[in-house]
Amino acid sequence: MAGRIPQSFIDDLLGRVDIVEIIDSRVPLKRAGKEYKACCPFHEERTPSFTVSSSKQFYHCFGCGVHGTAITFLMEYAHLDFREAINELASGAGVEVPTEGDQPRRAQNSTASLRQLMVEANQFFGQQLREHPKSDRVINYLKQRGLSGEVTAEFELGFAPPGWSNLLDQFGKDDARRKLLFEGGLIIKKESGGFYDRFRDRVMFPIHDHRGRVVGFGGRILDQGEPKYLNSPETPLFHKGSELYGLFRAKESIHKEQCCLIVEGYMDVVALAQHGIRNSVATLGTATTRQHLERLFRHVNELIFCFDGDRAGKQAAWRALESALPTLQDGRQVGFLFLPDGEDPDSLVRGEGEAAFRKRLSASTPLPDYLFDQLRKETDLNRLDGRARLVELARPLLLRLPDGVLRTMMFDRLTTLSQSRPGSLEEHFTSSPPSKSKASLHSFGALGQSEGRLSPTAKAIALLIQHPGMGGHQIDLSPLFDSDDPGLPLLHSIQKILTNNPKINTAALLEHFRETPHFRPLVKLVAWEHLIHKDNVLAEFEETIQTLIGRQRTGRIEVLLQKSTNSKLSAQEQGELTKLLETKNYPKGKKNKL
Ligand code: UTP
Ligand code: MN
Repeated sequence: MAGRIPQSFIDDLLGRVDIVEIIDSRVPLKRAGKEYKACCPFHEERTPSFTVSSSKQFYHCFGCGVHGTAITFLMEYAHLDFREAINELASGAGVEVPTEGDQPRRAQNSTASLRQLMVEANQFFGQQLREHPKSDRVINYLKQRGLSGEVTAEFELGFAPPGWSNLLDQFGKDDARRKLLFEGGLIIKKESGGFYDRFRDRVMFPIHDHRGRVVGFGGRILDQGEPKYLNSPETPLFHKGSELYGLFRAKESIHKEQCCLIVEGYMDVVALAQHGIRNSVATLGTATTRQHLERLFRHVNELIFCFDGDRAGKQAAWRALESALPTLQDGRQVGFLFLPDGEDPDSLVRGEGEAAFRKRLSASTPLPDYLFDQLRKETDLNRLDGRARLVELARPLLLRLPDGVLRTMMFDRLTTLSQSRPGSLEEHFTSSPPSKSKASLHSFGALGQSEGRLSPTAKAIALLIQHPGMGGHQIDLSPLFDSDDPGLPLLHSIQKILTNNPKINTAALLEHFRETPHFRPLVKLVAWEHLIHKDNVLAEFEETIQTLIGRQRTGRIEVLLQKSTNSKLSAQEQGELTKLLETKNYPKGKKNKL
């Protein structure tokens, strides 16, 4: 797999590209003062509130609140993942994307040949379905499973004929070709030397990645036999933990229906499509991973899992719930549909038709209900210790939810169910006690339009990240001491990045934090409109730092004075206090030397 993209490359890339051009070529922008505007592509509106700032290299919609960098825009608008967004920007800028521990050229060539081989193998299986003398059996099998010629063609179903070397003979002419077939998982090594075809006498389901490229296959045995499905192994192109069967084909319908179904089998996806339900995808014989869900949530906010009603199905559902919890940012929804015992989406939609199946979907169980219903089954809420047990079981689950309204509401529900004291549970369980540290993290994250609601740390961070070129990194932060203010380490890291790279722009700075918990609050700080004239920003920043230093000193003085009334201060503390009291009366806003 490709390695990490070096951050320095991203810094440089975001310094080269212009977000105005990138957005304008997709959503035409109009100039409005220093900024650019359009009707927001992420929500319905008549008057433009989608704003693009060239100086920050950042977009923000005042209507629906979306915002981000050029990378975020491509991820959200074009539904790309991070790496694809980088590739897109790089190819527009005419630069190559390096990776850390740079991949050798040869590896890239072999990826290209492997892709080509997959295309050819897929064509071969398709052709065998149409032309092989024994393909009648397969065609009858597909018909008997209710599939039309159109759907069979749409999903590019194929036939791997009986025999040990059909593919091998066709594509494995020399060592290099055989090596490629092996790398692509299409042939298997014999112990005695040599190779044989992996897929023999099976109906073939090509697996496409989310960009529609064939990356692997699933092969179903005709009628009975073991294993029922044989899948491609993990290869350089195929990663089961992140690919979903049918996603590429389902995208359009997922957008239209604003919902995506997650089913267990290839045949479920194909059969649902046969009956007009085209927004389904299947995991590939693995449990649903967080990566799967993140990928789907890039397209849509509502996911519905369909599981068999049997024990195995219920277990799989609970595992899916566990992987879904951390992905549930506010606005995202997950539902569960349990099918009658012995049925799967394929048999059910064939038996009862599209309308009845859709009716079931609309009555799926929301994740919060499923979670609490399940836990209630395991506890006796008539007993006090049973209610305590409910809390104990729910706690690790609710803590996996990201911060947000949903999490708070789930804790509220737990409070009601367990008859706990209102407000006590979330505080009780959040790793940091309900102290200042949590409160300031919130005030730093939650940001209104008015500056009044920003803590000085948040304001300092905002000014610094919005104006990386002002020289703010030269302001001395050393008088600030460590405290439980979560913004301080962040302020220091931003300064450090700026010191190493004083030319970096706002968007690139922001991208340094994409994978950290700071990212979301930081994006909000970049979006904040401070209304300070650009000539005064540096002074404002310095003054904010002085305010912070002053506050810290006052706080520390209070602590020491308080302590001295109860006990004797150590010599060191006494010295510290004297020094603090001396410096306290510095004129406010006194500038540090540049
Ligand atoms: P199921 O056993 O539920 O099969 O496996 P199915 O989808 O209903 O298949 P049909 O209707 O009998 O044709 C669900 C999924 O689990 C994986 C496959 O991805 C399959 O689609 N699986 C199953 C395997 O990988 N190997 C197996 O042997 C069986
Ligand atoms: Mn089935």
